[in-house]
Amino acid sequence: MTKIAVLGGGQIGEALVSGLIAAGFPAADVVVTNRRQARGAELEETYGVSTTSNNEQAIAGADYVFLCVKPYAIIELLEGLHPGKESVFISMAAGLTLNALEAAVPQGTPVIRVMPNTPMLVGAGMSTLAPGTAVSEEQTAQVVKLLESVGEVEVIADKDMDAAAALQGSAPAYFFLIAEALIDAGVQLGLTRDSAQRMVTQTVAGSGKMLTDSGRDPVTLRANVTSPGGTTAAALRELEESGLRGAFFRAAEACAQRSKELG
Ligand SMILES: NC(=O)c1ccc[n+]([C@@H]2O[C@H](COP(=O)([O-])OP(=O)(O)OC[C@H]3O[C@@H](n4cnc5c(N)ncnc54)[C@H](OP(=O)(O)O)[C@@H]3O)[C@@H](O)[C@H]2O)c1
Repeated sequence: MTKIAVLGGGQIGEALVSGLIAAGFPAADVVVTNRRQARGAELEETYGVSTTSNNEQAIAGADYVFLCVKPYAIIELLEGLHPGKESVFISMAAGLTLNALEAAVPQGTPVIRVMPNTPMLVGAGMSTLAPGTAVSEEQTAQVVKLLESVGEVEVIADKDMDAAAALQGSAPAYFFLIAEALIDAGVQLGLTRDSAQRMVTQTVAGSGKMLTDSGRDPVTLRANVTSPGGTTAAALRELEESGLRGAFFRAAEACAQRSKELG
């Protein structure tokens, strides 16, 4: 039976636990840690998992240890643990490289770097995963399966993690910004904010669902709603002339560069 420890039952830790339990993973095989006892009690009551504030105790016998504390706390946390060879450590921290993570554990300890994104909180995450040098293919496959309880997973090389930050880690914020801007534009056209928000929210959700469910690429989907000489073509021309495409190239570059600096 696979045993899981989640160190740090905050937003991301809870999202993972929630997904695992919903996917049928036995609560008896999950232990979650927090320093605050009240938070542990809350998670215990909601998901039936066991909780403790003792990280060392939590990792004893765990096959997979998910590190879900803030990035600045991960290295100190790892250095304070005495892992057995059976545990695979999975960092969910933005920015921390595999080199930094592997240097904080005894040589030969399997370490995996994962970058989740916030839609994971609603079971629709996009996580990227880079396995460290001591991780077997079977361990990688098992972690992919566990993370699939909260969304999709792409296995990539550690060197591609900065680019991934630009396309999934930080990217939900771009779409929220686009929604915000379109709602403001609707208000400027005379719609109430509530009405504009409803229209934009459902349109973003519907467009995302078409992208994931139709099997078609975005170019085809966009062309399909663009009649020659029509309203959509007029709007798209404005977006292109305003430099939307170039803005995304520059934004992705800035994000990847910042991710590299932080790492
Ligand atoms: N790529 C992304 O978009 C993305 C998005 C979200 C999160 N993340 C990553 O996910 C990680 C978690 O983020 P989060 O938003 O879930 O943070 P969070 O809500 O602050 O959760 C962190 C949890 O860790 C607990 N904790 C702190 N120190 C601990 C320790 N020494 N031992 C045990 N528990 C401890 C805290 O509770 P107590 O204070 O009670 O201990 C808290 O519940 C971060 O590393 C972040 O970079 C990435």
